[in-house]
Amino acid sequence: MVLTCPHCQKQHNIDENLIPPNIKKARCKYCGNQFLLPGRQETVPAAPTTIQPVKAPKGPRRIAVSISKGGVGKTTTAVNLAAGLSFAGFKVLLVDTDTQGQDSFMLGVKPKAGLTELVTEELSAEEAVTQARERLWLLAGGKSLAGIKRLIDRKDFGGELTLAEALKPIEDQYDYIIVDTSPGWDPLTVNVLFYANEVLTPVSLEVMTLQGLLEFLKSIAAIQKHRKEVSLRYILPTFMDKRVKQSMGILEKIEELYGQLLCPAIRYNVRLSEAPAYGQTIFEFAPGSPGAEDYRELVRKVAGNPKLLR
Ligand SMILES: Nc1ncnc2c1ncn2[C@@H]1O[C@H](COP(=O)(O)OP(=O)(O)OP(=O)(O)O)[C@@H](O)[C@H]1O
Ligand SMILES: [Mg+2]
Repeated sequence: MVLTCPHCQKQHNIDENLIPPNIKKARCKYCGNQFLLPGRQETVPAAPTTIQPVKAPKGPRRIAVSISKGGVGKTTTAVNLAAGLSFAGFKVLLVDTDTQGQDSFMLGVKPKAGLTELVTEELSAEEAVTQARERLWLLAGGKSLAGIKRLIDRKDFGGELTLAEALKPIEDQYDYIIVDTSPGWDPLTVNVLFYANEVLTPVSLEVMTLQGLLEFLKSIAAIQKHRKEVSLRYILPTFMDKRVKQSMGILEKIEELYGQLLCPAIRYNVRLSEAPAYGQTIFEFAPGSPGAEDYRELVRKVAGNPKLLR
């Protein structure tokens, strides 16, 4: 039979007799999307009438959106994932650890303070955090974070736990803490990986970034020697353009190497690059766009709930 992936529309020729009867889903080898096989009903729990935020027993889920390579969609992903989770009913804190401070611009807020003031204890947590949407709060980044990097460098001992110590008193108020990181590798990135338990790594399919991914995985492995709680949980292909052969080639390679971590891809969508100028998330700016559709899918994947944001 011929199966068409509902996400990327690629066709797969499959011999039905080779699919074991207990298998209900197929995974698209091009974009990583999982979809139900025809005629095989999935047993899904009944839809909850109200969304019950799922809270891990030990505090919020702490997810870093990170890779050393620049311009691959880290900030776009951190902002839209955080916003999507908040629109789905969760309480979310978005932490911007980048001196570029793009997250506040993308959310259309002008914070008076942020992560720097929290770490230096110049302000209380309530004053350092900015409410950006109903259930979405931001600890803003920006130029002042350069001072934090120096502060971390000057510590003789425990500098890598600076961020964790600053967030500890406030983290339990949230269901998710999403941390956006800067490109490159600096003391703050190390701090983020000493705080987060899960890493979501965007990989741009526009340019050959597998090398960048491999390098980053080595850096995570180095951190894991000291902190085994952190692990790469999600690889998110971004800038997918199925007309570009190279895009699909990179995707196939990632699938081959890290299939089980692969998320359905985020397509190249110009609306995603237009939304920040309006201070809006993709769900507000262009809710019907492919970009919004793909980020909703990511929210469902991360939250582990296929019913969210339908
Ligand atoms: N799927 C997409 N389709 C089209 N444009 C996108 C997409 N994702 C991100 N962009 C745009 O690409 C640019 C880079 O994205 P973004 O800032 O999210 O990357 P980044 O990894 O955070 O960059 P940096 O490493 O500098 O922090 C931005 O202008 C953004 O609007
Ligand atoms: Mg960024």
